[in-house]
Amino acid sequence: MPIAVSILAATKKINCEDFSRFLFVGELALNGELRPVNGVLPIAIKAKNKNLAAIFVPAANAAEAKLIKDLEVIPVNNLIELIAHLEGYKPISGAPYTEFSFANAEINFDMAYIKGQEHVKRAMEIAAAGAHNVLMSGPPGSGKTLIARTMPSILPNLSLKEALEITKIYSVAGELPAQTALMTSRPFRSPHHTASGVALVGGGTWPRPGEISLAHRGVLFLDEFAEFTRQVLENLRQPLEDGVIHVSRAANNLSFPAKFILIAASNPCPCGYFGDREKNCVCSSTQIINYKKKISGPILDRIDLHIEVPRIKFDKLTSDINSEESTDIKKRVEKARLLQSQRFAGTNFITNSEMPPEAVKRF
Ligand SMILES: Nc1ncnc2c1ncn2[C@@H]1O[C@H](COP(=O)(O)OP(=O)(O)OP(=O)(O)O)[C@@H](O)[C@H]1O
Ligand SMILES: [Mg+2]
Repeated sequence: MPIAVSILAATKKINCEDFSRFLFVGELALNGELRPVNGVLPIAIKAKNKNLAAIFVPAANAAEAKLIKDLEVIPVNNLIELIAHLEGYKPISGAPYTEFSFANAEINFDMAYIKGQEHVKRAMEIAAAGAHNVLMSGPPGSGKTLIARTMPSILPNLSLKEALEITKIYSVAGELPAQTALMTSRPFRSPHHTASGVALVGGGTWPRPGEISLAHRGVLFLDEFAEFTRQVLENLRQPLEDGVIHVSRAANNLSFPAKFILIAASNPCPCGYFGDREKNCVCSSTQIINYKKKISGPILDRIDLHIEVPRIKFDKLTSDINSEESTDIKKRVEKARLLQSQRFAGTNFITNSEMPPEAVKRF
């Protein structure tokens, strides 16, 4: 679209007054239709910061651009419409402001369904409150995967600032779901253990955000943690420390935000029953050592909470006792987050896990 507009103006096919106050984004198809493009939100933010009068976007991207207040967004369906607008004989009306709400997202997994495992649930609550990383270790069927999936149900609602951060990443990655202008719930990403380093941390010839950035302000769940290749896991060291990933290529250096809660789940050994109270482990000591060695010390060091998840007795699993619901736990988490925001007012961090050593002492 910008190239087409430039050519039309340069060849005097359209009356060009001053284009310096306008910004044009969009892909022009051969039939003159405008196709949606990725990354419209960050471009719209830039347009606002530069005080431009209007931004012209493909109609399908208009809602995304119009998340930015006080920015005139002109939705364009095709080149003919655009010319009619620029020539002034049939103006296109500006897109309306995009409405959204951070009402509770649909919850598929509620903590109330988890029987027993009180200490694990408590650890998850602490992790949600302070944005700490968690490693769960336990035998097969002890509920690690199930518990991890309940995590989104106790995380606090997003703020607009966080939602815009997440949406920018999804927009650039081309992962914004259709009909979605703003990401209104925290992401929960669970890449498979065969995922490549690039898929996990980002990069590629045309660098794009990886799973750790798509999990920004949400949860990165790495199930079967010890099955990931060591090399892939080592890539997590720097982003776990800095909350951002730097991807360098010959042509450019890019940074993608990557502040996420890491939830890792693993069996303690290849057979899974090392340390189990009833079933005997059949692994040799070398096998157990090799299995544990796959996760390096520096990685373990970046995980604040290490929890054992034992199997629970059949009676308990089938009992009717209902435990606390996620909405009640979430209230406590939100209270803890509020305390943290008061405590850290005037600093550049928002959760306990982000405190640098000096701050730990001070607070
Ligand atoms: N405490 C529990 N309360 C309710 N259901 C449970 C509990 N523990 C396990 N389950 C159920 O048992 C099944 C197995 O649990 P899950 O898949 O989470 O185990 P896991 O620890 O991830 O095992 P693996 O190490 O094999 O991956 C699931 O269907 C889950 O719903
Ligand atoms: Mg599992």
